[in-house]
Amino acid sequence: MARTPLIAGNWKMNENHIEATGLVQKLSWALIDGQYEPEKSEAAVIVPFTDIRSVQTLIEGDKINIAFGAQDVSKYDKGAYTGEVSAPMLAKLNCKYVVVGHSERREYHGESDELINAKAKKVIEYGMTPIICVGEVLAVRKEGRQIEHVLAQTKGVLAGLTPEQVSSLVIAYEPVWAIGTGEVATPADAQEVCGAIREYVKGEFGEEAAEGVRIQYGGSVKSSNVVEIMAEPDVDGALVGGASLDAEEFARIVLFYKA
Ligand code: PGA
Repeated sequence: MARTPLIAGNWKMNENHIEATGLVQKLSWALIDGQYEPEKSEAAVIVPFTDIRSVQTLIEGDKINIAFGAQDVSKYDKGAYTGEVSAPMLAKLNCKYVVVGHSERREYHGESDELINAKAKKVIEYGMTPIICVGEVLAVRKEGRQIEHVLAQTKGVLAGLTPEQVSSLVIAYEPVWAIGTGEVATPADAQEVCGAIREYVKGEFGEEAAEGVRIQYGGSVKSSNVVEIMAEPDVDGALVGGASLDAEEFARIVLFYKA
């Protein structure tokens, strides 16, 4: 089963809804200029909640071949949860992807693997695809415990899912020390952990789930390093932060397969 690489731009808390339409338009032109073939590398933008409606209207209205999604979601469907946004609300906006468990949510909002697991289940329940983030902090890597740490997270975030559900979701391995730091993991580092995640999925959910699940690398991905990272057999895409705010640069990353 061939896995289509997914290059997702995580805008984080950047771009208001007016800026967002400008950025998506620029990205669309850059991809068309580069003769983008979505079946070879799927492009997605993961935007702030307030941008989703504008991005949806533009992408659907102009039939732009870019997927879009959200950066977080509530584990509840509805109710007295001030400030939260639910999975059915995101599904109604045709979001394809929802990132859950980003390291910034884990660090600044105290999100646990258990909560992330509940959020992922909601995303799946409403027909969207979760991009579930895992990754170790620098201290863990210095002790050489990155595999054990990431597999414990993976176990927690995938708990209770069926093999079929696992086969169609996305896991993003993002070493925390490489996020926004300019310090990118080596391709061998990325492969080591992404390969271990796939082995874990195979053991726990079976061969088909392991063949289907897409495992991204994230952390200071740029056009200058994406090609060598994507050459690794267990890396099926990238979750791109900073570099996704520059349309031309992000387009070059999406078009990595032409290099
Ligand atoms: P970065 O962020 O590309 O700016 O390192 C990646 C991420 O947090 O998803």
